[in-house]
Amino acid sequence: MTASPASGSRRPDLSVSFARIQLKNPVIAASGTFGYGIEFEDIVHLNKLGGFVVKGLSREPMAGNQPPRLYETPAGMLNAIGLQNIGARAFIEQKLPKLRKMKNIVVFANVFGYTREDYEQTIQILNEGEGIAAYELNVSCPNTAEGGIQFGSDPRSLDEVVNSARHNSQRPLIVKLSPNVTSVAQMARVAEDAGADAISLVNTFVAMAIDAETRKPRIANVTAGLSGPAIKPIALRMVYDVSKAVKIPVIGMGGISTAVDIVEFMLAGASAVQIGTASFWDPVATEKIVAELERWCVEHNVGRVADLTGGMVME
Ligand SMILES: Cc1cc2nc3c(=O)[nH]c(=O)nc-3n(C[C@H](O)[C@H](O)[C@H](O)COP(=O)(O)O)c2cc1C
Repeated sequence: MTASPASGSRRPDLSVSFARIQLKNPVIAASGTFGYGIEFEDIVHLNKLGGFVVKGLSREPMAGNQPPRLYETPAGMLNAIGLQNIGARAFIEQKLPKLRKMKNIVVFANVFGYTREDYEQTIQILNEGEGIAAYELNVSCPNTAEGGIQFGSDPRSLDEVVNSARHNSQRPLIVKLSPNVTSVAQMARVAEDAGADAISLVNTFVAMAIDAETRKPRIANVTAGLSGPAIKPIALRMVYDVSKAVKIPVIGMGGISTAVDIVEFMLAGASAVQIGTASFWDPVATEKIVAELERWCVEHNVGRVADLTGGMVME
């Protein structure tokens, strides 16, 4: 490990940067688990986080899937929300002005579409709004009948959608990959070649649960996305694979619930991390983990958290 020691009582430097974005620490709340940020204003000190990603935004408002849409599994959670959201236009008119009033926060907009044109137009609408640090392109949602995951699992479609998003975007572009593919490293290289500034991964794993008594699926949509600690070792391996495959920064996520989890993802190659499901168990989880990470760095003589990135030792 190349991390420099923290000298005496000096606080460790938790700041990280990727894709021309500077964050005060590597902890970002993940899309779909943190509303539009505003809903967490009274629960979490938003300015203590590295940043947060708002719910997936589409060109038009979306109602989402029928309930039940959430189901807890051993060490994990199934969800099939179906990308319910108010739409990009309402976001910039109703939510963004409130977010702009908050000091010292970093807002990422997660973008979703059914067609390449949807992605383009959503980005064009969002370009008009001030106060968004970057776009996170969700090409990986397993919970809608079409779109999303199709872009993330076919190299040619991924190339097209990232290319056109790149041309329309006035902001850094993070491409969020699906784990539901044979080679996530190959998809990462496609996204990099098409102009992504960073990669984030993983989205949820396609999964399901059945109630043996009623013989019915636990989720109305039948299949759903699995998240939480149950997926962490697979997500970690994928972050490691992708970090080796591309030169652009990687943002890791999947089951992170402790500071040690963050350290593992950074050692595997992540420049920053996102935390999703942990906020369902403990709504203050993101903020608590920032404090825990700082303590971990002090206890382990890590002066600069960014030095952990890619620092896994082999011998
Ligand atoms: C209820 C729920 C809703 C989600 N909605 C979105 C979304 O709108 N867009 C997106 O890119 N990812 C979405 N995700 C995926 C998360 O952002 C994250 O990639 C995934 O849950 C893995 O991280 P975790 O194990 O820390 O939750 C959602 C996850 C959950 C649990």
